[in-house]
Amino acid sequence: MNTHMENKKAFSVFALVGILLFVFASAALAFFFFILYKYVPPLPVKDMAYMDATLPVETRITSLLSSMTLEEKVGQMALVSKDSIVRMGDVTHYGIGAVLSNAGAKPAENTQEGWSTMVSDFTDASKASRLGVPLLYGVDAIHGHGNLPGATIFPHAIGLGATADAELVEKVAKATAEEVAATGVNWSFSPNLDEPKDIRWGRVYEAFSDDPKLVASLGAAYVKGTQSVLKMGSGSSTYPAVLSTPKHFVGAGSMIWDSSSNKKYRIDQGKTPVNEKFLNEAYLPPFAGAIDAGAQSVMVGLNSWGIRKLSASKHLITEVLKGELGFNGFVVSDWYGVYEIPGGKYIAAVSAIDSGIDMVMLPFDYKSFIRNVVFAVRVGNIKESRIDDAVRRILRAKFALGLFDQVNTASSSLQIGSNEHRQLAREAVSRSLVLLKNEEDVLPIRKSVTSIRVAGSAADNVGEQSGAWTVEWQGIDGNWLPGATSILQGIKTRAGTNADVQYEKDGNFSANGQKADIGIAIVGESPYAEGWGDRENPILYKEDLQAILNLQATCEKVIVVIVSGRPLLVSNEVSSWDGLIEAWLPGSEGQGVADALFGDVPFTGKLPVPWPASTQQLPIGQDGATADGSALLFARDFGLTTR
Ligand code: BGC
Repeated sequence: MNTHMENKKAFSVFALVGILLFVFASAALAFFFFILYKYVPPLPVKDMAYMDATLPVETRITSLLSSMTLEEKVGQMALVSKDSIVRMGDVTHYGIGAVLSNAGAKPAENTQEGWSTMVSDFTDASKASRLGVPLLYGVDAIHGHGNLPGATIFPHAIGLGATADAELVEKVAKATAEEVAATGVNWSFSPNLDEPKDIRWGRVYEAFSDDPKLVASLGAAYVKGTQSVLKMGSGSSTYPAVLSTPKHFVGAGSMIWDSSSNKKYRIDQGKTPVNEKFLNEAYLPPFAGAIDAGAQSVMVGLNSWGIRKLSASKHLITEVLKGELGFNGFVVSDWYGVYEIPGGKYIAAVSAIDSGIDMVMLPFDYKSFIRNVVFAVRVGNIKESRIDDAVRRILRAKFALGLFDQVNTASSSLQIGSNEHRQLAREAVSRSLVLLKNEEDVLPIRKSVTSIRVAGSAADNVGEQSGAWTVEWQGIDGNWLPGATSILQGIKTRAGTNADVQYEKDGNFSANGQKADIGIAIVGESPYAEGWGDRENPILYKEDLQAILNLQATCEKVIVVIVSGRPLLVSNEVSSWDGLIEAWLPGSEGQGVADALFGDVPFTGKLPVPWPASTQQLPIGQDGATADGSALLFARDFGLTTR
């Protein structure tokens, strides 16, 4: 018994001493690293030639690469969501290559000043790194600088597709880039070059069209417009203020229904069937056009090519994009896309980088990414020459933007939501409208019309007419965007004293006695982004169908205006409507709809995608044929015109 007690005591003393020793040793080690970090000077920079703006860019890149440690190189390959940066000091310490505000990731104060301060804080932190490599700051300015209230919200891409006007698209892209540059942001994840074949997909509206020729022409115009906003560098040199990123490479839009790798989605992030003929004839030409137009970065999609995630396709990224298309900019992966590659985070990163991904939109844990990739190079799982190639491509874009040669401050001479930009957006809205039915020339609304009744979920809702990627990822509800006009407001302003305009969202005017001359039902879809918008049966909501019926009961004629991200299935109802207009997602300038309704500008838009009659017709083939061989409701390019 005694011996047992003594043993126990001896053990406790031993354990205590052990713990104390461990604590002291850890403290000593921490102190040692603290001193090392604080007082040991950083590695000397071998060669400062990269800062010499008179040297050729490739020479400057070689100079910079020669001074970089492996850790610093891998840091350049990290694209991190701004909300995932643990401490600002990490941007400096790890030499983070790029930061993004995904949709909804806004500064504490969501104003032009708030953005400028936030971006310059990140930029300053990157410039404080040993080699002072400035970072890229990216946003999804896919229909204007959508994260920022007060910015001009242009029609989503499908509406621009309906205008089929490359000159107009170039102007829209330029105006968008001016608003982006006005907040110091230097990178936009646009244009979208997807070619949607299935209206059940929640991203149809992000694309211009399913026609490769139209996508190629508008995509190239968009890249040009974005990169045509110039900033002054040192001396008299100028550089594009905003880098454009065509996405999503490649075949996004041709995924098969119910093939998504994301359990919550139905088609978004799904599988695109392997088809080299479609690849060459349909999916690649828009990317080739965008590269010709000067794109310096391309984003790889979250879809799969067959069963292989795009981010793991060496064939498509290295052989086709960088090889056959001769792309010498950098390839960035999409949100968490690299980690969708099976095998765990280490294998996924190795496989993506080996396949040709140059920058990884992590977007979260940069520390473990840098650790893993550095380790992978050290043990020979990734060749250092691959890392050098990736970083060279990233630096090439940074040099092209003049990031090393200029003071990277927001350009305060550029305005957010200026009159000029709003006028342009208004023009784009009226040009994007597609007139699909016009019985007895009900449109444009005649001067003799003196009473108008308006109804529907999208009539008085700027949030709904702007769609997703507006302030929040999934969009907003209501009329609170500064400077914006709802479609109803536009109609009221234009009608002025010539016609009495009444509004009831549900169309219930029965108490008001006499029939009105015209009813306008402005119906549509609530905002959605990505897989959240995958809909098995995209039809009108029952409240909107009822609103149309209510208007029909109390108006002589009824025009239906659909505000939606895609064609909706309306075969059962369309025959009873006098007029039908597809307005897509017009954005902040609702007045543009009124301009065409009242004949101030003609209807000229054409359908950029085929309009199916039923889900049995989906997906629509590359040749425009329906899956079941039956006739479409409206073919691509259809659209009535007025004078
Ligand atoms: C989308 C991309 C977008 C990225 C960053 C992803 O979910 O697929 O189109 O650029 O998020 O916001």
